[in-house]
Amino acid sequence: METLTPQPTYTLADLDEVLATESQIAERVSALARDISEHYGSQDITVVCVLSGALVFTADLIRKLEVPTRLDCIRADSYGNATEASQPPKIRNPLKTDIKDRHVLIVDDILDTGNTLVAILRHLRQAEPASLATCVLLDKKERRQVELEADFSGFEIPDAFVVGYGLDFAEHYRNLKCIGSLKPEFQSAVQ
Ligand code: XMP
Repeated sequence: METLTPQPTYTLADLDEVLATESQIAERVSALARDISEHYGSQDITVVCVLSGALVFTADLIRKLEVPTRLDCIRADSYGNATEASQPPKIRNPLKTDIKDRHVLIVDDILDTGNTLVAILRHLRQAEPASLATCVLLDKKERRQVELEADFSGFEIPDAFVVGYGLDFAEHYRNLKCIGSLKPEFQSAVQ
């Protein structure tokens, strides 16, 4: 007898539940951009996008900002092909630009345990920016392991592994327009 296991389709069909639709995300991103623009006024800011998860969010957010904006990217590897982070997060890809005396806004997809953002903040502080703030699209408050709140935050979500709108599992699902929880049967590390 052969046992059949469910196969992922890497589409909406692999989601348990949609947590934020395309239009809800668009509305929230616009509101965040308004808050950020108001906060910085006419000051020049450097947005640091945390690759790869925040790529889609950052692309939409910066086009709505009304402040002079520079863009740089950083990479922190914490998850690999699994749904639990391997400790501690490693900072990869140093910034291309000099952020000394600049107003820096770190943009990340999700604030989960907080370990990644803490490591990035510590790393960027060494470059002596004029200010350092954080913006996350999603916040899983109940999973936090460190004392950290984002300065700008999109949605608070429950403790579920989510994908879509830039967030992945093993590099899939980033292209989905909504954000949803991935069915548990598709969360195994080898796919
Ligand atoms: P920590 O736990 O350090 O995690 O705050 C931050 C980084 O981990 C990734 N992450 C997720 N990625 N679905 C994902 O696709 C999730 O539910 C999830 N939770 C955490 C993400 O890259 C984030 O920057």
